[in-house]
Amino acid sequence: MRIAIIGTGYVGLVSGACFSDFGHDVVCVDKDASKIDALLKGVMPIFEPGLDQLVERNVRQGRLSFTTELAEGVKGAEAIFIAVGTPSRRGDGHADLSYVYGAAREIAEALDGPAVVVTKSTVPVGTGDEVERILREVAPDAEVSVCSNPEFLREGAAIEDFKRPDRIVMGVEDGRAEEVMRDVYRPLYLNRAPLLFTSRRTAELIKYAANAFLATKITFINEIADLCEEVGADVQDVSRGIGLDNRIGPKFLHAGPGYGGSCFPKDTLALLKTAEDYQSPVRIVEAVVKVNDARKRAMGRKVIKALGEEPRGKTVALLGLAFKPNTDDMRDAPSIAIFQALEDAGVNVRGYDPESVEQARPLMPGMTFCDTPYAAAEGADAVVLVTEWDVLRALDLKRLKAVMAGDELVDLRNIYTPQEVTGAGFQWQGVGKPMRGRTGSIEVADRSPVSA
Ligand code: UGA
Repeated sequence: MRIAIIGTGYVGLVSGACFSDFGHDVVCVDKDASKIDALLKGVMPIFEPGLDQLVERNVRQGRLSFTTELAEGVKGAEAIFIAVGTPSRRGDGHADLSYVYGAAREIAEALDGPAVVVTKSTVPVGTGDEVERILREVAPDAEVSVCSNPEFLREGAAIEDFKRPDRIVMGVEDGRAEEVMRDVYRPLYLNRAPLLFTSRRTAELIKYAANAFLATKITFINEIADLCEEVGADVQDVSRGIGLDNRIGPKFLHAGPGYGGSCFPKDTLALLKTAEDYQSPVRIVEAVVKVNDARKRAMGRKVIKALGEEPRGKTVALLGLAFKPNTDDMRDAPSIAIFQALEDAGVNVRGYDPESVEQARPLMPGMTFCDTPYAAAEGADAVVLVTEWDVLRALDLKRLKAVMAGDELVDLRNIYTPQEVTGAGFQWQGVGKPMRGRTGSIEVADRSPVSA
């Protein structure tokens, strides 16, 4: 089956590479000639584990190609995915759909046979209707259907998420679109991935509802963490204690410095705008957005407090800058607000990240970037663990302490136990953890039947 993907950003490139790996014939299209040139040379525009090998293999085997010419890419394609960016529109938080509609127009001009146009970009409810209107206006005779197929990929685990999804959601309005989409995802339903066919508007809303719910779960546990600090309870044990209830589930209950990234902040805002437009408020999500925004800067204040009476002139090392591990993405990373708060308080900031330094540099002009966590800690009064990269999970804490001027360690991801940290000579602070006291353990009751 021939597939065209418009937009070689994160979603487009991962989807294109994975579809071609399933055996489809895929052409990825992007207007940015330098990006396409780089891809043709095997250079990835983003850091995603395993993506370069996947692209290389499928290009070599002739199933994946790249072009800047949309008409050439769309020629003969049965499914055409729109995977262009939908940034927050400057000023009002609405998703900016100009790239989506622009792509729809160009596709309509290039159509040369029956096709299903699929929106994979995260788009507000009703966007599919407008895409269909544009296609019919520009190409009134074309045999074309429009499908909404939101993605649920996590950065850093995108290939695994694509190949072993919890579900595939497809919003269709006619039988032909459903038939083509079944062919597109046939390799996956042989893997028993649940396929959920819904109306197009429902599929569009599922994406926003999923991200808003996950953002809510994180924000809920973050506020419980604050309460834990006040009452002397342990948030990790609370997470386990509630997460073992199947109705709640254990995932996305890790307290931390607040969610960041290219999705949750943008998508929660866009959902609020839709809710406003339809005068149907989602007040829980309104609270989540406010609480999360405030939290990032509050983490900066937590570090400043750890520096004592006179923070001005002191030095802090931020370890891990990307919004989460295994990505170089700095969008809405909590490290940015923490850095800002520290700089405003006159603190010198040093930073380390295994992948995101190039992206971080322009966002944190006053930061001294270092090549290793130990180099960043040199002369620091406090080190702060901001992102839980694997390389930061097994630090030689004694070595770290030895190069520092002070002895504060603020662990915003609860990577280490207080015992490990204080044992290496540090003053320790975590998130939602008591300074001392019993940590929980889980015992599994023996359920074997009592013998007679
Ligand atoms: C998120 C969703 O998880 C994906 O399903 C979705 O497809 C994607 O957005 C998208 O809309 O494109 P992503 O932003 O890559 O994926 O990252 P997550 O792993 O969800 O993490 C988001 C943020 O939440 C990070 O800052 C992370 O540190 C934070 N987080 C996550 C927590 O603070 N605690 C948790 O328990 C989980």
